[in-house]
Amino acid sequence: MQESKTEIRDYSLVGKETPIAIKNGLADADWYQSPVTREQLRELLMRKDGPAIRDTILWIGLIFGSGFLVYLWWGTWFAIIPYIIYSVLYASTSDSRWHESSHGTAFKTDWMNTVLYEIASFMVLRQSNVWRWSHTRHHSDTIIRGRDPEIAVPRPPRIIKFIRSFLGLGGPISEFRKLFIHASGKIDAEVATYLPESDYKTVILKARIYLAIFLAVIVLSIISGSILPLMYIGLPTLFGTWLMPLYSLTQHAGLQENVLDHRLNCRTVYMNRVHRFLYWNMNYHVEHHMFPLVPYHALPKLHELIKDDCPTPYDSITDAFREIIPAVRKQMKDPTYYVDRKLPEGAGKLEDKFSITSSKDIKVANGKIEVCTLDDLPKGEVIRFDFEQKTYAVYRTNFDNYYATDGICTHGNSHLAEGIVIDELIECSKHNGRFDLKDGSPKRMPVCATSCEVSLQES
Ligand code: FES
Repeated sequence: MQESKTEIRDYSLVGKETPIAIKNGLADADWYQSPVTREQLRELLMRKDGPAIRDTILWIGLIFGSGFLVYLWWGTWFAIIPYIIYSVLYASTSDSRWHESSHGTAFKTDWMNTVLYEIASFMVLRQSNVWRWSHTRHHSDTIIRGRDPEIAVPRPPRIIKFIRSFLGLGGPISEFRKLFIHASGKIDAEVATYLPESDYKTVILKARIYLAIFLAVIVLSIISGSILPLMYIGLPTLFGTWLMPLYSLTQHAGLQENVLDHRLNCRTVYMNRVHRFLYWNMNYHVEHHMFPLVPYHALPKLHELIKDDCPTPYDSITDAFREIIPAVRKQMKDPTYYVDRKLPEGAGKLEDKFSITSSKDIKVANGKIEVCTLDDLPKGEVIRFDFEQKTYAVYRTNFDNYYATDGICTHGNSHLAEGIVIDELIECSKHNGRFDLKDGSPKRMPVCATSCEVSLQES
């Protein structure tokens, strides 16, 4: 069907586009993945604490250091420079920390991801539970109209919204509206489309805590007769958010909507080391969306592996904006316009990245099915196994225990064999949800339902 140039597009999650996206198979769909061998992927998926501990100590040190200089020089012009640094680190770079820890991939140790996630959520002014679920949806349905709650530049773009995003006025205004709704004990209608009811109480409690902190800072400023407390908490959003859209608009702005290929709706932009530290390698955005299990520190390696299967990366932020600004201007007149990313010659579909045992290979004897030999399944590995229109996953953990479960994640449309075995857990490759292999029980959101265990016999 031809899209109309004048039609107003509906980006709401409860509007007319939502059933259309579902009907057209765009919701929770299978997405293209560039070919990466299981061995290469296993190396990339290796979780580490070291890089994120180092980067987080440096990041916190810079925030406290610049904040201390602001305190020392407060009342003089000298305070401006450290305050610019403080507010940008506080309000803009917390976005990438929030992002990476929400995936649970920044650190190997899970509580470290949780602590960083809660702190960064407050700094970037995002309700932690709400945004965890919103981001899960963004990964399932990236730039799908009516499904993705994180489309930064809806069409036709509104220039005022664009400008507001650099001044820290766009997101925070809508976030405060939701904070007040949630603190009053209700859940915003759009949020309710992706937030499970089991999280409602926590969301309401955390909204009250956020507002209580802001109130305490305002009271402290009034009592002390100084705006300084608000300059540390609250006002950095106004003064320091400008860097965030400079990075994040490069991710998807101007690119194609409603397409199930991250090579066509995400950008990879080369950035220097300083930007990559501040942005935690999210400039490798095609790679991140295609393989969200890969930690930020391994994204440059992943890029090297798949770059020949992806469109040419942008040379710099400036290079990306050279494309984004004219594209957005065109979309203001013609919302059907998008930047058509060209795939390189020979780029294609991945044939079969995992070892799959299909029913035609299967031997049934005495009511038992031979899945594979022990040598086919190294320690810490999982294989997919298809039998009679059903898919299973068979695991061998590093402790040399064997398990089998349903092959499809109970949260969405994803093969568990594409995930990573961590101790006695399987982590799903799509949204990093986890199941306990011992009983199939959910161990990390967004999975809530138990995965069915299948009996397995070693012989
Ligand atoms: Fe979402 Fe598995 S599909 S965690």
